[in-house]
Amino acid sequence: MTTKVLMVCLGNICRSPIAEGIMRKLTNDQDFIIDSAGTANYHIGTAPDYRSIAIAALHDIDISGQKARQLTPADIDAFDHILVMDEENLSNAIAMCSSEKHRDKISLITAASEVDTPYIPDPYYGEDDGFARVYELLHDCCKNWLKKYTK
Ligand code: 4NP
Repeated sequence: MTTKVLMVCLGNICRSPIAEGIMRKLTNDQDFIIDSAGTANYHIGTAPDYRSIAIAALHDIDISGQKARQLTPADIDAFDHILVMDEENLSNAIAMCSSEKHRDKISLITAASEVDTPYIPDPYYGEDDGFARVYELLHDCCKNWLKKYTK
């Protein structure tokens, strides 16, 4: 059976594209369908931020072909798991739910891991090294999520 996982952040150009790239690599795109989306419409159709592309490339992950899109209620129906980056993404995604079943699909990506932060910080307005930290956090979170999920 194929498990569909959607990574969600605000703009779908910094954090969730990295999370999508990491999860695709960890799963070899086998038995899983991985995608990402943003709760906002600011960057629809654009490629990931150059700093996200660079940090992913440093880890042999090519995310340059991704295109930003906005999260819709249909996504919450279509995907099995919606992993969000922070509390704001969480409440925006929950606001789109029409049932308890949909609500139960949504969780913070940090929930399955033991990283030292309850959410993935938004690196957009920060220094470039924020992207390295986001990468490391997301790698830990994705690895631990998969470990728990596939147990
Ligand atoms: P993301 O980062 O949610 O990780 O993609 C952001 C990207 C763009 C903006 C904010 C956060 N923005 O305000 O345009």
